[in-house]
Amino acid sequence: MNIVAQEDPLLLVPGPSSLIPRARRALTRHIGHRSPDFRTIFRKTTELLREVFDTSGDVHILTASGTGAVEAAVMNFIRSGDRVLSIVYGTFGRRFMEQAARVTDNIYVLKTSYGDVPSVSYVRKFLEENKVRELDIVTVVFNETNPGTRFRELSDLAKLAHSYGAILIVDAVSGLGGDYFSCEKNHIDVALSSSQKCLGAPPGLSFITYRTVEAERKLRQVRCPSTYFDLKTSKRFLERNETPFTPAVNVLYALKEALEYICDEVGLDRWIRWHHERARVILDALQEIGLKPYVKDEPKRSVTVLSFEKPENTTVSELKSELYMKYRIDIADGMDELKGKIFRIGNMGWLTRKDITLLITALINTLMRKTTIKNIEKALQKIHEAPLLY
Ligand SMILES: Cc1ncc(COP(=O)(O)O)c(C=O)c1O
Repeated sequence: MNIVAQEDPLLLVPGPSSLIPRARRALTRHIGHRSPDFRTIFRKTTELLREVFDTSGDVHILTASGTGAVEAAVMNFIRSGDRVLSIVYGTFGRRFMEQAARVTDNIYVLKTSYGDVPSVSYVRKFLEENKVRELDIVTVVFNETNPGTRFRELSDLAKLAHSYGAILIVDAVSGLGGDYFSCEKNHIDVALSSSQKCLGAPPGLSFITYRTVEAERKLRQVRCPSTYFDLKTSKRFLERNETPFTPAVNVLYALKEALEYICDEVGLDRWIRWHHERARVILDALQEIGLKPYVKDEPKRSVTVLSFEKPENTTVSELKSELYMKYRIDIADGMDELKGKIFRIGNMGWLTRKDITLLITALINTLMRKTTIKNIEKALQKIHEAPLLY
């Protein structure tokens, strides 16, 4: 019998992540999107998303993956001729910049090498050196999924953006719910994310929130060239707890269940802490057996995407394939220039001590055939003793 039909793999890619069991069960539900039940579910989901984003603004739910939310941000807040500063320190910052470049030619690209993260003082210097006086938009990725780094100075970046007359748009696709994030505390104008990463829900939905007067003004000024992603249309429907077009209703059901679990049952803070605790134990255990984190500078290292240098005497594609074919564990290769140089583990959503134990034993069993592995006992002990939620 075909194993594909029998058993799900252990998803350790940086999204989609393993589903919260409650969310998985909800996927079988069906509902019409113009019904009272839908409006109740939709209202609850948007309320919980506001809590997760920590935003006083509206949250629009789109039937699209994260790229759709990036597209919605570009189409609704950027217009031809706008001066944009795009901060690029990984693959998704680059994609954000490229999506913006479909709308405007005036893009300043601040790029650092992968593995590094620019500081706000560096951004300031960049703007001064380029004699930039005014900007309309600044874009940045909160958690860079390739190579596994994070931008921590969001509040200072927002202040810098505002001092240039710009609004700040943050892609929080791979960090929201897994690392500490707040639109309010960080003065973020627009933020976006999606369902299939740290919220333990299935792929198919993404979200965008805007909360400042400046963002609202920008939204009014821009004539959105997309019908599907027009937030002005979406706003009219949001007022009656509906979406303009048919949403992915069963994914929405699952997302509501996931968010209720996170916010009402476990508590958002505890859920995020669990991601941090898991990051610690995975990093510690893998380092014990000789693997080296790719991002050396700990404050720059992502909590939700853990990247490691290619182990000795094997290739990343060989490692990936052995883990998948023998253990049904799905990990990720590096992207762009890091393909074949690093492997990445998604520390997102529903991931338990049992899963981490399987990962480390499978890694040991695979790598010990190519190289000497030390400290196996210590690595296992770390997992046994880690203060994990599950
Ligand atoms: C930071 C970031 N932005 C955007 C995306 C695009 O999301 P999707 O693949 O859901 O379209 C991803 C996907 O991994 C991401 O990690």
